Amino acid sequence: MGNVVTSIDLGSSKICVIISEIDNNGQLQVIGIGKSKCKGIKKGVVVDIEETAKAVIEAVTQAENMADLEICEAYINIPGGYTKLIRNKGIIAVSSDDKEISFEDVKRVLNSATIVSIPQDQRIVDIIPRQYIVDGYDGISDPIGMVGIRLEVEADIIVGSTTTVLNLVKSVNRAGIEVLGIIMEPISTSEAVLTKDEKDLGVLLLDIGAGTSDFSVFRNGILIYSNILPIAGNHITNDISVGLRLPFDRSEEIKKKFGVAYTKLANNDNVFEINPLGFNNNLEVNEIQLSEIIEARIREIFELINMDLIKNRVKDKILTGIVITGGGVSYFKGVTELGIEVFGLPVRIGQPYQMGAQEPIFSSAVGLINYGFKRKLNYYIEYNNVEIKKGRGKKRGKNTKSIMSFLKTIWDEYF
Ligand SMILES: Nc1ncnc2c1ncn2[C@@H]1O[C@H](COP(=O)(O)OP(=O)(O)OP(=O)(O)O)[C@@H](O)[C@H]1O
Ligand SMILES: [Mg+2]
Repeated sequence: MGNVVTSIDLGSSKICVIISEIDNNGQLQVIGIGKSKCKGIKKGVVVDIEETAKAVIEAVTQAENMADLEICEAYINIPGGYTKLIRNKGIIAVSSDDKEISFEDVKRVLNSATIVSIPQDQRIVDIIPRQYIVDGYDGISDPIGMVGIRLEVEADIIVGSTTTVLNLVKSVNRAGIEVLGIIMEPISTSEAVLTKDEKDLGVLLLDIGAGTSDFSVFRNGILIYSNILPIAGNHITNDISVGLRLPFDRSEEIKKKFGVAYTKLANNDNVFEINPLGFNNNLEVNEIQLSEIIEARIREIFELINMDLIKNRVKDKILTGIVITGGGVSYFKGVTELGIEVFGLPVRIGQPYQMGAQEPIFSSAVGLINYGFKRKLNYYIEYNNVEIKKGRGKKRGKNTKSIMSFLKTIWDEYF
């Protein structure tokens, strides 16, 4: 039971917690899922720490009950649009007499790669080593144990707004959970829904949630472009509210039950009744009328993204097509057809394959787990976990140990 990894996806509509265990074959099995509504996050940013902490506790408790263990540390995400990626190099001389590269050397070289000038209101949230170079030999992914005199690393330094980062960490800490790592969302989500071939050849990952549409391009296996559009599923619900004069919750219900993204695929015979605000009688609405509202908003989202990709000269890097995930548009009939029409590229819906989490709304949380697990031999940024109230009122169980507990702290060395 020691091999447990937990992730917390802090989304605009919900907090999702997934607890995973590594089985005997080294595969990750989902053993606990928790989901709670959260009003403390707007457009991917914490606006109310207490509300967010409460929602984290609720989701964590659900997942713990399902997994029958108690967790004390987790990976969390930060939306791609609120981070910047700086590519840098680090170089050190190998320290030991026998010139065998140690864990400490790797730590030192990564540390040296973080010496970059960043604005005062930003801070480093993650370091992603791209390749190590030992005495001029490049393409090395794990240099520990090799012999050499000079160790270099090429790394991506992920930098995020200090306020955004600290508020995320505080909210999770206040729920009694220590933050093990903050992962840039497109990078972690890509682990759950993209194939290696797609990432190598060029793919657009479109994570459309409730408050934000994150879009990212991967090519040659790495993230080459990421941006965020503050229009997503909530706007579709709002449009239905305004168009049909209904309260938000009823519009959300209708959207999920009858929503179609492509009017050409909607059916005139599918009819439902509504009771608009200010009307005494019920009115009949058909699927086509509803889908006209939905299609207009999704078309707008797709067109804005398409224009941004063209403007930033990354559209032509997308060779394999588009993978849509997140709950905002993935569930609608006709969304792939609409996507093909607007982008002129193949479109598919992406969701995790892990049993129990095979839904687009879980992509981010599952991706975090996959990424966190892969990174277990890497390192080591501590996120100012200052506000941990241990235990959340429960007794710490016997299963709280984590595979990550040996991770080291170098946060203080940066700041
Ligand atoms: N069956 C469905 N049909 C249509 N829309 C749905 C369905 N289920 C969920 N949604 C929509 O998905 C959105 C939530 O998606 P998701 O869980 O990916 O967002 P989030 O991660 O909370 O938000 P964000 O990523 O924007 O911060 C909501 O707008 C919700 O209305
Ligand atoms: Mg999300």
